[in-house]
Amino acid sequence: MVYTMKNSKEDSQIFNLNGEYARLDKFFEPPASTIIELDLGCGKGAFSTALARKYPETMVFSVDVMIGRLRKLVKRKNRENIANMFLLRGEASFFVTIMLPDSSVDRLHILFPDPWPKNKHRGNRLVSSEFLGQIHRVLKDGGVFHFATDDDSYYKSVTSIVGPSGIFREEPSAISDLSDIKTDFERRWLEEDRAVNHMSWVKLPKVFRDTAH
Ligand SMILES: C[S@@+](CC[C@H](N)C(=O)[O-])C[C@H]1O[C@@H](n2cnc3c(N)ncnc32)[C@H](O)[C@@H]1O
Repeated sequence: MVYTMKNSKEDSQIFNLNGEYARLDKFFEPPASTIIELDLGCGKGAFSTALARKYPETMVFSVDVMIGRLRKLVKRKNRENIANMFLLRGEASFFVTIMLPDSSVDRLHILFPDPWPKNKHRGNRLVSSEFLGQIHRVLKDGGVFHFATDDDSYYKSVTSIVGPSGIFREEPSAISDLSDIKTDFERRWLEEDRAVNHMSWVKLPKVFRDTAH
């Protein structure tokens, strides 16, 4: 996956996930005790920014495919002098599947992802049962998967994947500290009186069944 783009002065502050198959721990070596928050599909980054400001001791990684949105976020990061937010341009499932080491993330947020409402496009949705396995892999023990949407069908699809998976336990309190933070899209939907749903689950250890007997 190679992206071409005109250079902009913000680009030096955006890590380009360009298919070199480098693992993130080659770039960042946070001490094991550092809390890592990951905002997949961060858009213009209201959520990432608020999270980074609320918890300045954490590292917030913000991933999006759209360079224009990330450039805006760089400007905001610099304007607000936020040192603990790191912007990455690339495809979220590539980033998680290829670049993230096992047990490296404390909370993984997928907030108002593109809903792909038409039946024939549902395969483009970010959250699938395969991707859930990767989310589980990259979360630390007790790590949290946070998902939010205004789309009823996406909500039902995700709950029907995570619920029976047996590898997560629903835990609303895992995001209760974030109830005051709204994403850019969330603000928009709330202004239009659309219902939004936030869900959070805690990673459970995988139990391997002995199938030999
Ligand atoms: C509907 S917006 C939501 C943005 C933000 N989370 C919010 O709630 O305001 C979805 C965002 O996900 C990004 N996106 C869509 N598919 C993606 C993918 N596969 N990998 C990374 N980003 C993606 C889009 O560029 C867009 O910025």
